[in-house]
Amino acid sequence: MSLVTSPEFIRRIESIVGSAGLVQDPERMHSYLVDWRNAYTGNAALIVRPANTEQVAAVVRLCHEANVALVPQGGNTGLCGGSIPDATGQQVVLSLTRMTRIREIDPANATITVEAGVILQQLQQAASEAGRLFPLSLGAEGSCTVGGNLATNAGGTAVLRYGNMRELTLGIEVVLPDGRIWNGLRGLRKDNTGYDLKHLFIGSEGTLGIITAAVLKLFPATHSMATAWVALPSPEAAIELISHIRGVCADRLTGFEMMSRQSLEFVLSHVAGCRDPLTSEQPWYALIELRDTISDAPLTELLETCLSHAFEQGLVIDAVIASNDSQAAALWGLREGISEAQNHEGPSLKHDISVPVSQIPAFIERTDKALQARFPGVRIVSYGHIGDGNLHYNISKPVGADDVAFKANELAIMDIIYQKTGEFNGSISAEHGLGQSKPAAAVRFKDPLEIELMRAIKRTLDPTGLMNPGKVFAAEQ
Ligand code: FAD
Ligand code: MLT
Ligand code: ZN
Repeated sequence: MSLVTSPEFIRRIESIVGSAGLVQDPERMHSYLVDWRNAYTGNAALIVRPANTEQVAAVVRLCHEANVALVPQGGNTGLCGGSIPDATGQQVVLSLTRMTRIREIDPANATITVEAGVILQQLQQAASEAGRLFPLSLGAEGSCTVGGNLATNAGGTAVLRYGNMRELTLGIEVVLPDGRIWNGLRGLRKDNTGYDLKHLFIGSEGTLGIITAAVLKLFPATHSMATAWVALPSPEAAIELISHIRGVCADRLTGFEMMSRQSLEFVLSHVAGCRDPLTSEQPWYALIELRDTISDAPLTELLETCLSHAFEQGLVIDAVIASNDSQAAALWGLREGISEAQNHEGPSLKHDISVPVSQIPAFIERTDKALQARFPGVRIVSYGHIGDGNLHYNISKPVGADDVAFKANELAIMDIIYQKTGEFNGSISAEHGLGQSKPAAAVRFKDPLEIELMRAIKRTLDPTGLMNPGKVFAAEQ
């Protein structure tokens, strides 16, 4: 029997977290061991669910002494297998989902201090009840947690105006791999006292420590909104349209999401209650949202002015503006439904790339061409946050193709897409992280010096390599 499954180890863990903080029953463990897409499964010796920072620290200290590896987990909505343990059954999953306290709201400082297990939607709700806005917004917001958002530096649909998780964070609290607690919960907008260590942990995907709490920025609540669904002739038109709307509306432009006809077709086929808002099929669409802090701001009029200019310029083929909140929600449903819809079409090969915003059209044109030449008939589901230069360039099998035969091409498909990303000086992961799916690709496509510096940081903070092994860096590296 290995130490991690020995009665003594389990007894010591239980003495820290109590029986409510321990999951050992295989049936209850299952949901912690498989990811949202069913793309990754693992085994674990135990699922441990501490209720506060001191318990996290005690568990981490014990695992450090016993040389047991830990896999931090929040809502388990990550898309790269980062929260799933390996197959050995020797790792411990450390779930932060019992740490759900909102510790403080400071309206005058425009900050909220929350624990890592708070669900993003609950955080948005708490901000709203305090008359403020927490702007991070993404399809998984009903189940992803602040800890996971921080550990992956999550992006989503409002980055255009407010930035990603890194930009929304002023301070964090972290349990280091040896069990010491770093209290960096400072709500300061200015602090130039050396290296800004929080940024090492944000985006580190659980490989440097366990994030237990954070001080996050709040923004003025918005009281007016206008949402449009627009058909476009091309991605070039989308880029010109963003530029035009931004020029007119400035920061009122909070969202600009583009999606291909193929993406919309998947949603219409698989997500209940959806309908095409326009009468004719067009190659590309954009979902555009304006918001203002003033009630009754003339946003619909502004959007109409922008869109009629765009019609004249040939940038827009057709458009509909939502006339109430439920119509706006239905339009967002078409966009947010893409990930789930694609799961119904067999394995989806996900590529979360970014290139400079101006290069999106050329990237799509050249990559589509290269892929179709090598793998005729593959269905390219491209969509995403193109205002941030971030495209979810996901691939589904040709109609009628065999799942296993299609998946056998995964590496070759990835290679074409990442080569093209490199040609545009882009990134192979804009917002989802490396997890266990992309460490090898990162070594191939990132500057070797960057990888060397990252490894040096990992060795310094986690010399025994017990924090989420096999993530960000491949296990054998
Ligand atoms: P998990 O999946 O549990 O973990 C993710 C990673 O963080 C793992 O490596 C884990 O080890 C680590 N981790 C978790 N908690 C901690 C902690 N407290 N301390 C240290 N490490 C930790 N992402 C985007 O960025 N933008 C999107 O638009 C977006 N849309 C999505 C839509 C859908 C439908 C789905 C399913 C996912 C989407 N995602 C998106 C991906 C995912 O939801 C986000 O990355 C989210 O931030 C992950 O949070 P989580 O709590 O589920 O983390
Ligand atoms: C999204 O923006 O919908 C997700 O980040 C993309 C995905 O599921 O691939
Ligand atoms: Zn996304």
